Amino acid sequence: MPCKPSSSKVRALAQLHAQIRRCDRCPLHRTRTQAVPGVGSAHAEIIFVGEAPGRREDLKGEPFVGAAGKFLDELLASIGLSRDEVYITNVVKSRPVSGPPPGRNRAPSPDEIVACVPWLTQQLQLIRPRLVVTLGRIALEHFLPGRKITEVHGRPQAVDGVTVLPLYHPAMALYRRDWTAILKRDFRTIARLTRKEPQRGRRIPQSRT
Ligand code: URA
Repeated sequence: MPCKPSSSKVRALAQLHAQIRRCDRCPLHRTRTQAVPGVGSAHAEIIFVGEAPGRREDLKGEPFVGAAGKFLDELLASIGLSRDEVYITNVVKSRPVSGPPPGRNRAPSPDEIVACVPWLTQQLQLIRPRLVVTLGRIALEHFLPGRKITEVHGRPQAVDGVTVLPLYHPAMALYRRDWTAILKRDFRTIARLTRKEPQRGRRIPQSRT
């Protein structure tokens, strides 16, 4: 069977994931169950970048699988997308934890971010998305240092030739109704930027029989 031209990109992403799973560049490799490289398509036009895996993600090896992940799936569905069509990852690939096992999730430290960011850079270079959607403060700080989420959320920004759309983190939005509404509205900007308009409210042509 002839090889699809796209398969080399799929293979390269799988290899990158394997490298990330073996990574020991920061002390988080000692406390993690497994690294969480990312999930989705090597051909994705949109990459979502969160903060770091939490406990559930650490156990499953997949980003955004807890309550925030369920909400993210709903938000994706609201603009006609599924996990398979996009790529989802985090700035930091191993769970930042404090306290005795199972420990509490915490924000990644600056050192952990510096150690891990080259993986994200490689993911972006390989996938070459049209749009990078940052979820929350840590991802925003990486792409747009010094910018405030309250000022830039939902507004596309040009960063090194790629469009970056900063959004609130779904985990935060789950607890704040006002942010839930903002996040839902900002998601429609993704549809607009990638010309995937929401299905809801679309008129279905009637047959004339
Ligand atoms: N929050 C994140 O930022 N990333 C995950 O993978 C899960 C929760």
